[in-house]
Amino acid sequence: MSTRVATARRYLMCPPSYFDVVYSINPWMDPSKPVDQRLAYLQWQRIYDVFVELGHQVELIAPLPGLPDMVYAANGATVLDGRVLVARFRHQERVAEAPAYLDWFGARRFEVRQADYVNEGQGDFLAVGGLLLAGRGFRSEQASHAETETFFSRTVIGLNLVQADYYHLDTALAVLDERTIMYYPAAFAPQSQQILRKLYPDAILADAQDAAAFGLNAVSDGRHVVLPAGATNLAAQLREHGFEPIPADVSELLRGGGGVKCCTLELGSAGGTTANPKGAA
Ligand code: ARG
Repeated sequence: MSTRVATARRYLMCPPSYFDVVYSINPWMDPSKPVDQRLAYLQWQRIYDVFVELGHQVELIAPLPGLPDMVYAANGATVLDGRVLVARFRHQERVAEAPAYLDWFGARRFEVRQADYVNEGQGDFLAVGGLLLAGRGFRSEQASHAETETFFSRTVIGLNLVQADYYHLDTALAVLDERTIMYYPAAFAPQSQQILRKLYPDAILADAQDAAAFGLNAVSDGRHVVLPAGATNLAAQLREHGFEPIPADVSELLRGGGGVKCCTLELGSAGGTTANPKGAA
């Protein structure tokens, strides 16, 4: 079995202090069902703890009252090589999150700009190798792809999402390392499936059940893959490919339509390999 190498990362997370489902902007959200805030907090805390145990650096952005979706930090921005394109949210309910990210990055050593076009950050823009895979169809608008390509000087590969349940790219595709991805083919238009097959012939493919368990909403450090616990077939496939799956129960976070990756904005490398991650050989 190949030896996968973990590298230390920097992540930004937002505690779910005000998490709730009081409106519906994706098919997973049902405001008529009460949310267990305490359980959501415990599930979020476990993701945080796993990252820290693995040797990653986790930073926090302060949650704001009245913004129940702010826990899904992945949507706040796209970050590459110290440059930050802050999101422009599609739905009015989340628009006020963007200034918080502008402030957070502005106060630190990043080069920051807010996107002109509707663009939901790492929900729809995922870097892999030298490319930026970009989703569209439900949230980020087409023009945001060109804007992002210019801003980062990186080739953007536009992918059309066609199933409302998988409304952000990160609900249907996860980057595992510089060359490896996993995804759920049926979430993409036929032409986009063709592009993915060509670029990543060895990709791990999710079945409908694991996709519905939000298994693609995962965070990888090149070796450890933190993913929603329901995605058991994906976990087995990851193991076969030499990765170490780390399941996290996200049942309550899923009520807002988000899992592990949605709660995690990747800021880049923290320098070097991980300190001494538990379980690493
Ligand atoms: N309720 C949030 C929304 O619909 C969930 C966002 C999930 N985030 C993600 N990166 N897929 O905007």
